[in-house]
Amino acid sequence: MTLKDRLIRLIETGGPIPVSTYMQLCLHDTAEGYYATRPGIGRDFITAPEISQVFGELIGLWLVHEWRAMGSPGEVRLVEIGPGRGTLMRDALRLAMVAGGDDFANAMRLTLVEPAPAMRDVQRAELSSAEPDFVSTLAEVPAGPMLLVANEYLDCLPARQFHKDGDTWRECVIGLDEAGGLAFGLAADEQAAPEGTAATAAVVEVQIGLDLILADLVSRADPFRALFVDYGPMDAAPGDSLRSFRDGQQVHPLHLPGESDLTVDVDFGRFARLAGKAGLQVAGPTPQGMLLMSLGAQARLNQLIEANPDGAEALYESVKRLIDPAELGERFKAICLSSPGLPAPAGF
Ligand SMILES: C[S@@+](CC[C@H](N)C(=O)[O-])C[C@H]1O[C@@H](n2cnc3c(N)ncnc32)[C@H](O)[C@@H]1O
Repeated sequence: MTLKDRLIRLIETGGPIPVSTYMQLCLHDTAEGYYATRPGIGRDFITAPEISQVFGELIGLWLVHEWRAMGSPGEVRLVEIGPGRGTLMRDALRLAMVAGGDDFANAMRLTLVEPAPAMRDVQRAELSSAEPDFVSTLAEVPAGPMLLVANEYLDCLPARQFHKDGDTWRECVIGLDEAGGLAFGLAADEQAAPEGTAATAAVVEVQIGLDLILADLVSRADPFRALFVDYGPMDAAPGDSLRSFRDGQQVHPLHLPGESDLTVDVDFGRFARLAGKAGLQVAGPTPQGMLLMSLGAQARLNQLIEANPDGAEALYESVKRLIDPAELGERFKAICLSSPGLPAPAGF
């Protein structure tokens, strides 16, 4: 029985399901979930570290800088959530080892947060020299000072979606149409407007996973920095942003369950607001292009072109794609959450 058949069976027996349940099953079902069984990085979509090595390299320099800002602890947990093919961390470590030398190399212990066994195999092969440990959730990362990075992870966190229906709010659910296929609808129950909803909003998405990340971070007793890069509006809440991608094309989110990526825009305003309320130090959100420029993208690009003049145009175009506001430079944002008491992070 396919995942689609199982979803239909689930709805027939238990009634319509929230969008968040649909996302969770489509992305993480162990038998047929997209990330659990057939992640399509490079096929269905492309990410910043896959576009240019400069992305991961600058993050590597940033990690060493922030380790020093913590007082260069003799042991530091370097954590990446959702490492994909391991490209970001491979590029980051290459420069971090140069910038941080033996002291950083000896202090650093790499932990990858990745629930999918197939993805772990890819990451283990790419990052074998760093001997990574694997865990499935942030909560499992051992205690101690921590430097965390996550690129395009937040947008995978399942979202509940609420629609304004006259004077009230109802949750968007997935049920069955007359032909027995998957279809969007609204739940019968009325809801209160989600926290922070603007008076003019008609659709609001809420990723509970953001709250869980904050709960995990707040519970850590040792100093940490956590850098998240993802897409979404600067402070307005996203409306209906649920999208699906297959072979580089946008497809209907209900058409290929488990066979296409599902993603939503991240509500950076809500994430920053809740992090501040929880007592964390918040830097950003800031546009990705501005972060990369302030971390030295131009200087690194110049170095790479000097070493490979024949590749100058391709090198320039790939870095431009990450930085130009008309391309990915503004749509993608970075936010850094830190434990209280640390100096402001570089780049913000
Ligand atoms: C869009 S890919 C980004 C991969 C990589 N960070 C990059 O930039 O190329 C999303 C990644 O998040 C991982 N992921 C999705 N949901 C996750 C979860 N709940 N916990 C940990 N990783 C998750 C996926 O397995 C995948 O590695």
